[in-house]
Amino acid sequence: MLRRLYSEQPASFEYTPANLAWAEGQIAKYPEGRAQSAVIPLLWRAQEQEGWLTKPAIEYVGDMLGMPYIRVLEVATFYFMFQLQPVGSVAHIQVCGTTTCMICGSGDIIEVCKRRIAEKPHTLSADGKFSWEEVECLGACANAPMAQIGKDYFEDLTAENFEKLLDQMEAGNVPLPGSQAGRYSSEPAGGPVVLAEYKGTGAQYNGSVQLAADIGDTLKRIDGTEVPLLTPWISKGAGHGSVPAAPAAAKSAVQQAAAKKAPAKKAAAPKKAAAPKAEAKPAPAAAGEVAEKKPRTMKAPRKAGADDLKMLKGVGPKLEQTLNELGFWHYDQVAKWGPEEIAWVDNRLKFKGRIERDGWIEQAKILAEGGETEFSKRAKY
Ligand code: FES
Repeated sequence: MLRRLYSEQPASFEYTPANLAWAEGQIAKYPEGRAQSAVIPLLWRAQEQEGWLTKPAIEYVGDMLGMPYIRVLEVATFYFMFQLQPVGSVAHIQVCGTTTCMICGSGDIIEVCKRRIAEKPHTLSADGKFSWEEVECLGACANAPMAQIGKDYFEDLTAENFEKLLDQMEAGNVPLPGSQAGRYSSEPAGGPVVLAEYKGTGAQYNGSVQLAADIGDTLKRIDGTEVPLLTPWISKGAGHGSVPAAPAAAKSAVQQAAAKKAPAKKAAAPKKAAAPKAEAKPAPAAAGEVAEKKPRTMKAPRKAGADDLKMLKGVGPKLEQTLNELGFWHYDQVAKWGPEEIAWVDNRLKFKGRIERDGWIEQAKILAEGGETEFSKRAKY
């Protein structure tokens, strides 16, 4: 199956402030120099914010992690969980069509999708609210047939109860996930045949259904405005970043849906930050921060031409352009930066901390002397 970027793309992408703080928290989970390990969660969050994964979002994540765009694109096109085209504003329905679900009636569910949403998968319904696709086994075979909508599984589907789910969503309500036949989890449809005397916890719903109802993100995307963004390792002081207090706890999905008759509005994207200017004066250093000092800059590269700053791990095409705009063209310029110069440059980059995190100075010293780093050897091929 061909997975390509969609023909029409928005002009730009930027995380909401809360999502940006969350993303920085994700990066803080990994050792220094291993920020690229956060590529999947960062792409996923971008998709949750926008509904689908756009080219500007892929490039934004590449810039944030210092990855060549092609590497991020490889990840985005490899995993089917990333939607590379617009999806329904209310729900994108992923119907499992693998053996168990097929035997138990997934064909009927797909027929409903074709009739009520669009004849072809990955196509928006006429009102733009829904889209659908057939996916491979989602591991809920005991409760087949099933579909994933947002983060949740809707199980024991029939054409009838699935149509009712669509009706609820269409009316702006958020249906309860889990078994639509009243099963607690994956016990036999006729009731348990072992441990029958076990009364369970007495809870009405199983853990994941209860959580989905309580958190309220059953259909709603995590757009960084309403649902708490959890980074517990940061609040325990384990990471090397800080995350602002999470937004107020969200109401249950069902409560939210009842209160709102229309799908939640997307948060207005903050305006794109202006390109850094060499002359911009950042705020003075706070206590504990290193005071900044402007390094020696150049108006243009030397006659022999600029060095390829992308050979520094963590520098992609956009960041190289930013560095050039700031007046840095050569490895030996970077190699000379001390803590104060690093602070000056850092304050003018979009994502702080990357110079030290990715070890630019050490790399630049080696490259300036004509040597190779592990990264530059790989990057040339
Ligand atoms: S076959 Fe559908 S969930 Fe496994």
